[in-house]
Amino acid sequence: MADIALDVHISPERLLDDLRSDVRLGMTAAPKWISPKWFYDARGSELFEQITELPEYYPTRTERALIEAHAYDVAERTDAAILVELGSGSSEKTRLLLNAGIKHGSLRKYVPQDVSPTALEGAIEVIAREHPGLEIHGIVSDFTDTLQNLPADGSRTIAFLGGTLGNLIPEERALFLADIAQALIAGEFLLLGVGLVVEESVVVPAYDDAAGVTAQFNANVLSVLNERLNANFDPGQFEHVALWNSDAEWIEMRLRARTAQDIRIEDLDLDVHFDEGEELRTEISAKFRKEGIEAELVDAGFRVDEFWTDPESRFALILASRTSLGQRDDR
Ligand code: SAH
Ligand code: TRP
Repeated sequence: MADIALDVHISPERLLDDLRSDVRLGMTAAPKWISPKWFYDARGSELFEQITELPEYYPTRTERALIEAHAYDVAERTDAAILVELGSGSSEKTRLLLNAGIKHGSLRKYVPQDVSPTALEGAIEVIAREHPGLEIHGIVSDFTDTLQNLPADGSRTIAFLGGTLGNLIPEERALFLADIAQALIAGEFLLLGVGLVVEESVVVPAYDDAAGVTAQFNANVLSVLNERLNANFDPGQFEHVALWNSDAEWIEMRLRARTAQDIRIEDLDLDVHFDEGEELRTEISAKFRKEGIEAELVDAGFRVDEFWTDPESRFALILASRTSLGQRDDR
């Protein structure tokens, strides 16, 4: 029988409080915004899985091929006993890493972490069935404030895949990478998957697919507000917008009001007006260049050991190790 635990480090009450304060801030700001972590209710997590299978959405299959090619290198280089994964979602690609770690003989424990309990429960069930001998310790939490409580009963690799790093704004991103480094000790590893800068004609359709799944995913955040905060958005009254910001080198997702509208968010006792054409900013997905992300990792306290990419240089899988001294002391 598999050894399974699921820790809930963020209570539903706390999550609701966070949602309330986030939405109050974002809906009263100019321009209006909402944090992407609220996309992933059960329906949102399901829609994201559909996105990963779209012909236009190259990141998942490109990253999967990289993991497939290098999973055994990762197992050998890291010799990790514990694989922690932040924002693990369905853990679909991670199974390749687990297989390699187990075959290599070092891996004992998998620690998937996600804000979405439904995604996590589904993933744990599948993996427990595949690997009855593997200890599984799921954590429901916000990854930006849980790195201190990670299991440490063996040498660890922290995986952060799917290009999710690019969903953080640059300031959050620098803090987050530094926090990951802080959570590790010298000789432990970060395995990071990030999207690289590609032609606009390739990246935009990945976030604005012909079948409209991404549009549904984006608009689903309004249904989350309706359900959780008793709001009265009509998601059909908002148009999905994905544009490439060539200065910042990121995709910007927005929801554009098709008509002027007045929204009531009952649980916040808040009335929100949208002008016709007004946009609600929902998410960025930053793309990286090799030198840029390597410098960010070094600044955070890592050494870059491997930088694997696909033949078209669309995605990178990076293996970095925690240096014994901060980079400042290294120089
Ligand atoms: N790693 C998976 C899923 C990527 S989608 C893959 O590569 O396919 C991003 C995942 O991060 C979702 O599962 C979402 O629930 C989770 N997530 C987003 N913001 C989060 C946060 N602040 N804390 C924890 N998990 C978060
Ligand atoms: N981490 C994914 C990415 O940046 C998340 C994502 C994919 C996403 N498609 C999206 C987020 C559409 C919002 C809207 O690629």
